[in-house]
Order: sequence, then structure tokens, then C-alpha cells
Amino acid sequence: MVIAIDGPAGAGKSTVAREVARVLGFTFMDSGAMYRCVALAALERGVQPDEPAAVSELARGLDIELEGPVVRLDGRDVGEAIREPKVTAAASRLSVHPEVREAMVARQRRMIESGDYVAEGRDIGTVVSPDAALKVFLTASEEERARRRSQQTNEPFEQVLTAIRARDERDSTRRHGALRAAEDAVELDTTGVPAEEVVQRVVALATERGVA
Ligand code: DC
Repeated sequence: MVIAIDGPAGAGKSTVAREVARVLGFTFMDSGAMYRCVALAALERGVQPDEPAAVSELARGLDIELEGPVVRLDGRDVGEAIREPKVTAAASRLSVHPEVREAMVARQRRMIESGDYVAEGRDIGTVVSPDAALKVFLTASEEERARRRSQQTNEPFEQVLTAIRARDERDSTRRHGALRAAEDAVELDTTGVPAEEVVQRVVALATERGVA
């Protein structure tokens, strides 16, 4: 059983997906962490994010393990390293390549086919799990998303706002797996709404639909 939570950067996906998974006893899958692992490996090995052949070869060969919130790349805990701003920017750049997306989507499908998952990302409801039992698309105003990110990372607000705008633009205009709500997704605007309330709303939707 899959609950898909998609949306742009800073919409609250990770916080909400993690907590919904905990409440329902499902496993949390952070698909963005996989793209971030490829980005980290690319930066470390001097592979250009804009070089599709080299990046996709890297993407296919890496050992990426997600155990709930714990992220391991070739056996190493990279939970913090993958949140660095330069890794964030590289992940957004390399995730436009269809070959990279295919490799990641295949991994994600293998993971979630075997259990009950709350999976978060950009294309879970549209590509990775189009049959998900519940699809939620979280949004929030640009300013609120930038404010949340700047609190998490301690980067200046204006800098985060500029980076979020660039990332939104790239994530939503790429030709494959673009960020968009699935037709059957429930859209929730989280601007000014505390995370606990959003969690309650998603849990209520899951219960109404007999997902949990
Ligand atoms: O959710 P996040 O910020 O950790 O994602 C990092 C980047 O990875 C994001 O800019 C786009 C890419 N991504 C993607 O293309 N598809 C997903 N399902 C998740 C993330």
C-alpha cells in the first residue's frame, strides 16, 4: 500500500510524510534522498551533473540504502552531507535527465512494492506509483517555503528564495517526471498551517479511504 506525497521544495513533504508514516506504522521513503546521493557521488568524483551519460552510469552503479530516515551511500551514512546547498543544486540539475530518472524510479518501485510506504517526492503519484491508494500534493507560497528552508539550513532568506525559484522552475519544466499534481491527487495548501494539522488531515484522508 502506498501513500504518495508530492510537491515543491519546502512544502513540508518530509516532515509530513515522516510523521504520517509513524502514525500509521508505514515505512517512509524519501525519493529526493536518492537523487541527492547521486549528486553527492557526482560532486565527489568530479562527474558533471549536466553530463547525462556519465551521471546515469553513476546512478545505476551506486549502492544507495534508505532505511526510513537513514541514508547510506556505498555503506557510508550521508544523511547530513546530502543536505549541503551545492548537493541540492546538483540534484536538481541531474534529475532532469531521463536516464537518471529511469534508474531512480526503478529503484523506488522495487522498494515500495514490498510493503506499506509513505513515499515523498515530485513524481510519486504520477510516475513511480500511479496506482497509489492515496495521493497528496502539498503546496505553500514561495515565501513560506523559503522561510522554512532558511530556518532549517541557516542560509539567508533571500538566497534561499532565489534558489527555490530556480529549482521550482527546473523541477516543473523538465520533460520527464516533471513536478505536477496527479489528476486524482488531493491538493493541500500548507501556507500558515502547522505541520501537525496537515498530518491530521492526511491521516484522516487515509482512514476515510480505508488505506489505514
Ligand atoms: O525533495 P528534495 O529537495 O530532497 O529533492 C532534491 C531534488 O531531487 C529536487 O530538486 C528534484 C529531485 N527529485 C526528483 O526529481 N524527483 C523526486 N521524486 C524527488 C526529488
